[in-house]
Amino acid sequence: MFNRPRRNRKSAAIRNMVQENWLSVNDLIYPLFLIDGKNKKSEIKSMPGINRLSADLLLKEIEACLKLGLNTFCVFPAIEDKLKDKKATEGLNKKGLYPSTIKLIKKNFPEAVIMTDVAMDPYSSDGHDGLVKDGKILNDETLEILAKMALVQAEAGADIIGPSDMMDGRVGFIREALDENGFTDVSIMSYTAKYASAFYGPFRDALDSAPKFGDKKTYQMNPANSKEAILEGELDFTEGADFLMVKPALSYLDVIKILKDNFTLPIAAYNVSGEYAMVKAAGAKGWIDEKRVRDEILLSMKRAGADIILTYFAKEFAQSVK
Ligand code: PBG
Repeated sequence: MFNRPRRNRKSAAIRNMVQENWLSVNDLIYPLFLIDGKNKKSEIKSMPGINRLSADLLLKEIEACLKLGLNTFCVFPAIEDKLKDKKATEGLNKKGLYPSTIKLIKKNFPEAVIMTDVAMDPYSSDGHDGLVKDGKILNDETLEILAKMALVQAEAGADIIGPSDMMDGRVGFIREALDENGFTDVSIMSYTAKYASAFYGPFRDALDSAPKFGDKKTYQMNPANSKEAILEGELDFTEGADFLMVKPALSYLDVIKILKDNFTLPIAAYNVSGEYAMVKAAGAKGWIDEKRVRDEILLSMKRAGADIILTYFAKEFAQSVK
């Protein structure tokens, strides 16, 4: 036998030397949930360890993460029901909770990278990502609202805009609006291949943003498809996206690989709420070694080709390597 692959596994040092993929805090984005109020912290039952935080506590959380070397955050607002309407008006309110908190974060921590979410669902009384008329989700009318939303967030200081709505043409529409208003430096991380997934359940609990009727299948992708992700990638690339994202991640590793192989842009994977909840639940029962499973899952996303991972595990991973 001339080839004995085991020789490259014989010690930790050799294994490390030939290791192909590594996890690093530099690659992680930590999603955070914002609520109104002062000194308020409310647990998300289906996401152990993750809380909705008022702006003051969110600042403290970000400060703690920065000390761990975790620099990038994606903030999602939980909006009170009474502020929701069909047109997601609160999403365009420059003085609203979301933009004022982004401003506050960037004022306190200019070095932190803040990604924001563009979609109507947190503000929509219909719980959909687009404008609803006669039970249908309108595409082009929604684009106008999304672009205004993006401008409010860019003005507040967002570094990266994350359109998570899956309307056609939104990346180009938002890019144009940003550029026309002088925000040429604001990046777009497009939710390029976002699937109509059951893995978003705990997130919708967190924001109380589940659709009030129907589902999201007329805009989010069919979990059975992968070639379609290339079409979405081509559109986002030509429309000016800076990053392409696949979401969810774990059941879509092949899609991450497809985008990585077909595009030169950095690829992000969103390790979503349901993926987090499953690991936490099995870990709490003692059925799996939670930390090892966590790292193995995150590594599988890197191996598939993800340059960046959005994950609720970001802080605890940062703590574990510190
Ligand atoms: C909605 C949005 C969703 C998530 C991020 N943005 C849910 C949805 O599309 O219904 C899910 C994130 C997660 O599950 O962690 N625009």
